[in-house]
Amino acid sequence: MDSFIKLAKKRFSSRKYSTRQVEDEKVLQVLEAGRIAPSAANFQPWIFVVVKGEDAKREFKSIYNKEWFKEAPVFIIICGDHKSSWKRADGKDHCDIDVAIAVDHMTLAATDIGLATCWICNFDIAKCSEVLNLPSNIEPVAILPLAYPEDHPDPDRHITKRKALKDIVYYDKYE
Ligand SMILES: Cc1cc2nc3c(=O)[nH]c(=O)nc-3n(C[C@H](O)[C@H](O)[C@H](O)COP(=O)(O)O)c2cc1C
Repeated sequence: MDSFIKLAKKRFSSRKYSTRQVEDEKVLQVLEAGRIAPSAANFQPWIFVVVKGEDAKREFKSIYNKEWFKEAPVFIIICGDHKSSWKRADGKDHCDIDVAIAVDHMTLAATDIGLATCWICNFDIAKCSEVLNLPSNIEPVAILPLAYPEDHPDPDRHITKRKALKDIVYYDKYE
């Protein structure tokens, strides 16, 4: 447990990347962490698109207009397949939940092998779908740039920038 908390606290949103290439083996390790994630009814409604070719990256980088984003040597776009996700009896689609778990597995796995990531959801969805040639049922949910980090997180951020347990936990009833 201690080692999990250490890993979870080590992960941060990195927004300054080295130009050093990320080894294919490490990209595969991150993808594997996403593959083994749990999902509702084990339906695994996800697709992972890896963008690392120079031509593909040039086109892809325009979907999120931040200079630091464009420095990453590899991008993983985690997409949800709404045709294959589990729907509860009341109709709730669990696609986003499943995809988020896969993304979280990936960010932690990347951290564990010394790589930087940052969840990115505020990108141009229409352009992303077009550039990646995604069919309408496949929604690009998050982008993870993968890189070696060149920035450092604030060591106190889990104290100063997170709510305290006393403010978010209730026992037996919400009151
Ligand atoms: C669902 C989700 C979407 C996010 N989208 C973006 C984004 O579009 N751009 C960005 O710079 N950071 C994005 N972030 C990163 C958050 O700002 C960051 O996780 C939060 O401030 C906590 O900081 P930490 O990740 O360093 O612990 C996103 C995070 C999550 C979980």
